[in-house]
Amino acid sequence: MERRDKRIWLCLAHMSGNEMKYVKDAFDTNWVVPLGPNVNGFEEDLQRFVDSSDPNSSQPESPVHCPLSFDEEQGCPLTINGCPKRPHSVVALSSGTAAVHLALIACGVKAGDEVIVQSFTFCASSHPVTYLGATPIFVDSERDSWNMDPDILEEAIRDRISKTGHKPKAIIPVALYGMPYRIDKIMEIASRYNIPVIEDAAEGLGSRWNGRVLGTFGKYGVLSFNGNKMITTSGGGALICPDKAARDEIMWYATQARDAYPYYQHSAIGYNYRLSNICAGIGRGQMTVLNDHIAHHQKLAALYEQLFKDVHGIKFHKNPDERFDSNYWLNTITLDPSLKVKGEKYAYKKVVTSAIGGAGGVIHTVDNPTTDCQPNNNVEAMRMGLDAFNIEARPLWKPMHKQPIYSDSPAYVSGVAESLFKVGLCLPSGPYVSEDDVHYIVEAVKSLIITE
Ligand SMILES: Cc1ncc(COP(=O)(O)O)c(C=O)c1O
Repeated sequence: MERRDKRIWLCLAHMSGNEMKYVKDAFDTNWVVPLGPNVNGFEEDLQRFVDSSDPNSSQPESPVHCPLSFDEEQGCPLTINGCPKRPHSVVALSSGTAAVHLALIACGVKAGDEVIVQSFTFCASSHPVTYLGATPIFVDSERDSWNMDPDILEEAIRDRISKTGHKPKAIIPVALYGMPYRIDKIMEIASRYNIPVIEDAAEGLGSRWNGRVLGTFGKYGVLSFNGNKMITTSGGGALICPDKAARDEIMWYATQARDAYPYYQHSAIGYNYRLSNICAGIGRGQMTVLNDHIAHHQKLAALYEQLFKDVHGIKFHKNPDERFDSNYWLNTITLDPSLKVKGEKYAYKKVVTSAIGGAGGVIHTVDNPTTDCQPNNNVEAMRMGLDAFNIEARPLWKPMHKQPIYSDSPAYVSGVAESLFKVGLCLPSGPYVSEDDVHYIVEAVKSLIITE
C-alpha cells in the first residue's frame, strides 16, 4: 500500500470563514478585552444550542428521565442537580479546565473534601479537584459506553460515607470521545444522595442522551473549545449553569470576585477565567458550522463502523443503544490482544522524543520507554505503522487511577478502563478528514495486520 504525502491528523480545527467578521468587529470597535459583544453573542448562541432539540430527529425530544427530581414535600423541582430547569445559562471561559475548576468551587468543594471523578479521562477532569486541596475519588467505567459505571459509583459513595463520615461533594462523569454516560442512572443515584453532578462534556459538545444535549442534566456542564474540539476558539471553554443566579456566581468567580465598591474589594478568592472577546469572535463564527461538524464526525463514524465490520480482531466503539447519540469527537477502535501487527518487536524499544498525543508545550524527557501500564505491543505497533503511513493515531486516555501523580487517591475499579486503555486507539476524525481518507486509514490498518 502506498504512503500518502499529506498527513492525516487526529483532529484539526476547521474554520467556517465567518470567524474573521466577528474578530474584525472586535478590533474595529476596540473590544479587545475579556468581555464584550462577541462574548455575549457567543454565550447566547451556546445557550440556544444546548437547549435545542435534535436537528436530525423528526421525533419530538423524548422526555428526560430524571427520577427524584421532584420534591414531593416541597412541591417543587429539586435544584441540587438543576435537571428539570430550562433555559440554561452559559458562561464563556478561558478553558474547559477553568470551567471544571469554577463548577467545583460553586459546589462548595474545599480543602479536605472528596470529589468522585470518572477515572477514564483526560487529566483536566480531575486536576482542578487537586487545585482546591480536595481529593479525587476515581470510579471505573462500564464496558458499553466506556464511561462512569453507575453501580461502582454507588458503591464508592457508600464506602466513602462509611470511611470518612462525609459524602463526596460532587460527581464528575465524562463523555469520553463524545460518548454519553448513563446519565439517567447517574442522576438517580446523585439525587438519592443529594450530591451535585458536574458533567464533563468537554469532548461531548452536541452529543445527546435521549435527544437532550449533554451538559444540561447535571447541576453544571463543562464544554471545551480547545484547538482539537468539535468547535474551537483557539483555546476556551464554557460552563452550562442551571439558572441566572448560578451563572452570576460563576461569572463573579471568573472575574476576580469583586464586591460592589468604587475600589477593588474582595471577600473571596477569584480567578481571571473569562473568555477574550477576540476568541469569542472565533466562537461565534464556529457556531455557524457546529451542526455541520457534528454531522461530519457522525458520518465518518458510520463509515468506519461499516469498513471495520468484517476486519477480524478490530472492534469499532459505537453507541451502545438508541438512547446514546455520540458526536464521535474521536473515532476509536480496540485491537484484540491476539491480533498480530507488523513491527511489534519495535514497540516501546525507543524513548519517545517528539510530542505524541497533542502535547503542545514542553514534555519531560524520560529514561525508560515503558511503564507498568501501557497499551499492548500490537496497539503501539499499529500506532507506529499508521504514523509511517502519515496517519496520526493516539492511544486512549490512560486512566487517572494508573497515573503516578494519583497513586494515593482512592479508586473503585473493576479493571474495565485499564483493559480498554491497553487495547484502544483513536483514529483521525473531524471536518478535515474526508471519506476517502477513512478508506485509506482502514486499508492502512488492514495492511498492518499479519494474517497467517
Ligand atoms: C474530558 C476533558 N475534560 C476537560 C478538558 C479541558 O478542556 P480545556 O483543554 O479547554 O482546558 C478536556 C480537553 O481538553 C477534556 O478532554
